[in-house]
Amino acid sequence: AVKIILDTDPGIDDAMAMAMLAGLPEIELLAITTVFGNADIAMTTRNALFLRRHLGLKAPVHQGAAGPLARPRGPGALHIHGDNALGGIALPPDTGERPDGLDAPAHIASLLRRHPGEVTILAIGPLTNLALALRRDPAIAGLARQVVVMGGAFGTDGRWGNVTPTAEANIHNDPEAAGAVLAAGWPVTLVGLDVTARCVLTTGRAAALRNRGATAAMLWQVSRFYAAAYARYDGLDGCCLHDVAAVALLAAPELFTCQTGRAHVVLDGPETGRTLLDPAPDGRHSACIGVDAPRLVDLFMATVMGPAGT
Ligand code: BDR
Ligand code: CA
Repeated sequence: AVKIILDTDPGIDDAMAMAMLAGLPEIELLAITTVFGNADIAMTTRNALFLRRHLGLKAPVHQGAAGPLARPRGPGALHIHGDNALGGIALPPDTGERPDGLDAPAHIASLLRRHPGEVTILAIGPLTNLALALRRDPAIAGLARQVVVMGGAFGTDGRWGNVTPTAEANIHNDPEAAGAVLAAGWPVTLVGLDVTARCVLTTGRAAALRNRGATAAMLWQVSRFYAAAYARYDGLDGCCLHDVAAVALLAAPELFTCQTGRAHVVLDGPETGRTLLDPAPDGRHSACIGVDAPRLVDLFMATVMGPAGT
């Protein structure tokens, strides 16, 4: 089994990524850590607790950072993810469930210490918790197996950003944290807009999730708000599986092509949050630049769907 810490800001595509993780038997989820991003920390944590229960995940939920390292928190993305950040679907009334811990960075550091060389960190929100974990215990940079980040954009698909013309949301939400994560010694793979914007779940495909069990039905419901937002802002028929693509990199790396180098983040000026990759064959950073999007979407569907008519 591949040991994973999932750091997340749910979020509709985060919910889709969690559903995919729940369907992959080779994944051992050690913890779910929450971060602000698509919504404030109270909402992303509440959503993580809801999703854990709904998806039958067994991992503890540890709440993390409420805002970026060095700036005020941005507006979030409720216009894309809905007023509860899960597409406005009806959530159960407060179940009384609370996070298992309130210090995600400490928990990340202690799991890396407990399983040296074994843990993959899968980060699908702003990188604040990872940066705080490094600050607390810099040696963890030598203990992670790898760090996979949904974030950034390198322009190979003609795109440099989704929140500004040159910045992707997870990096833009805390550029200093992203810079610290890239400056640490661990190997980082960036699954950015170059590939994720091509992984589109069309509204037609999403409708096939409707009668395929409770997980798929919930994903169909949340996808409707998401697709409406993409139609509004991008003229797209469907929605981008951003965070799902980072899960797919773990499950099926052969679907991706990557470029190796040294990545860094612009920290000031109008291009704040932009990611750049200096090519270097010996670099410890890898940026995904190609993807077999149809097969990725098929893999997502096959992983989250239950039997027909359920
Ligand atoms: C990323 O930003 C968030 O809104 C999504 O959940 C995803 O992690 C895409 O840029
Ligand atoms: Ca996310």
